[in-house]
Amino acid sequence: MHNKVPVLNLQEQFSGLAPELEQAIMSVLRSGNYILGEKGLELEKEIAKLCGCQYGIGVANGTDALELALWALDIGPGDEVITPSFTFAATAEAIAMRGAKPVFVEVEAKTFNIDTARIEAAITKSSKAIMPVHLYGMSADMNAIMSLAKKYSLKVIEDNAQAVGALYKGKPTGSFADASCISFYPTKNLGACGDAGMIVTNDANIAERLRKLRAHGMKKRYYHEELGINSRLDELQAVILLTKLPYLSKWNEKRAELAKVYNQALKNISWLTLPNLVDQSQNRTIHVWHQYTVVVNLPAKSNETPSTLRDTVMAKLAEHGIGSMCYYPIPLHLQEAFSQYGYKKGDLPITETLAERVISLPMYPELTEEAIKRVATAFDKVGQEMLPVISQNQVYTNVGLR
Ligand SMILES: Cc1ncc(COP(=O)(O)O)c(C=O)c1O
Repeated sequence: MHNKVPVLNLQEQFSGLAPELEQAIMSVLRSGNYILGEKGLELEKEIAKLCGCQYGIGVANGTDALELALWALDIGPGDEVITPSFTFAATAEAIAMRGAKPVFVEVEAKTFNIDTARIEAAITKSSKAIMPVHLYGMSADMNAIMSLAKKYSLKVIEDNAQAVGALYKGKPTGSFADASCISFYPTKNLGACGDAGMIVTNDANIAERLRKLRAHGMKKRYYHEELGINSRLDELQAVILLTKLPYLSKWNEKRAELAKVYNQALKNISWLTLPNLVDQSQNRTIHVWHQYTVVVNLPAKSNETPSTLRDTVMAKLAEHGIGSMCYYPIPLHLQEAFSQYGYKKGDLPITETLAERVISLPMYPELTEEAIKRVATAFDKVGQEMLPVISQNQVYTNVGLR
């Protein structure tokens, strides 16, 4: 059906770049040089520059980038790393895989990012690092994080998987920490056609260690100074990313325009909390809108939970041809995989409330304003279907989130 609005449309981006990409890919195929070559080095330079760093180290994916960054900073068993629970599993998984303990801190409902006012209370003698996540493309409050890190001698690792190209008070995300990690997963604002990732840093020693760790601990071929892994960036992904990179800032600007269109189009849906638009002119903070995420505030009947209601909204949107996703339905502190850390329901109420209520809507540079109007019309209809007997003023507008 032509008027469907998919949550993502990677084919459309490809078709716009097909001749350039085909040429770039063929040049790598012809070169016979497929892993850690010239293109990878060029990409490392370009991404480091974009992130305001001196060094870039290409790796196989964003998850490896996080684990390698912790490894290069010597974070391991007995150490604690402070991080949000409202994020993709890889953030805390990397910490746990190094044998360290993720210490989950509450997020702010307004930004979906770690609440820096609550970090200090989570610091113990075992704390070694803070790992903020720039969720949905919006920077965490890096000034507050860096001053706490300084005060308590903690390392900082930015999980910049979702916010490449974003600025925090005029400085690029990824430029603040000891090491920052990027994912080029295909759905990211700058996406490869497969897995790829990078770590950026301003510390020459960390960069050198990372180059060893990603390649079996060797600096000179077959001389293994320490144990490492195989996490190398391949030339095909590098050349694809280099081809897309010149478009990134335009794409990110387009996403920000679309976010404004969304906020305007959805402003009368009283049962949604819309994301805050950042006043870019005032503080030079640029949100790159990896996701446009709304919060559903419908009153649950006794036999429903907010998350089943949210899922019903998503299913009804799908019936009206509108794709949507939930990032992320279960916060990490309540996931079985992290049960060993002893968290329980109620420990992080804002995180838990958001996880039950968020919906991310279609967001990609090729999305049209007209498509956003169709999303808004669908929300109108879903509201009517779900609130047949409930008057609008019964909608919960205050769930303690804003
Ligand atoms: C916040 C966050 N951290 C880490 C990752 C892991 O990246 P990758 O999928 O490239 O391993 C992702 C993306 O998938 C992410 O969104």
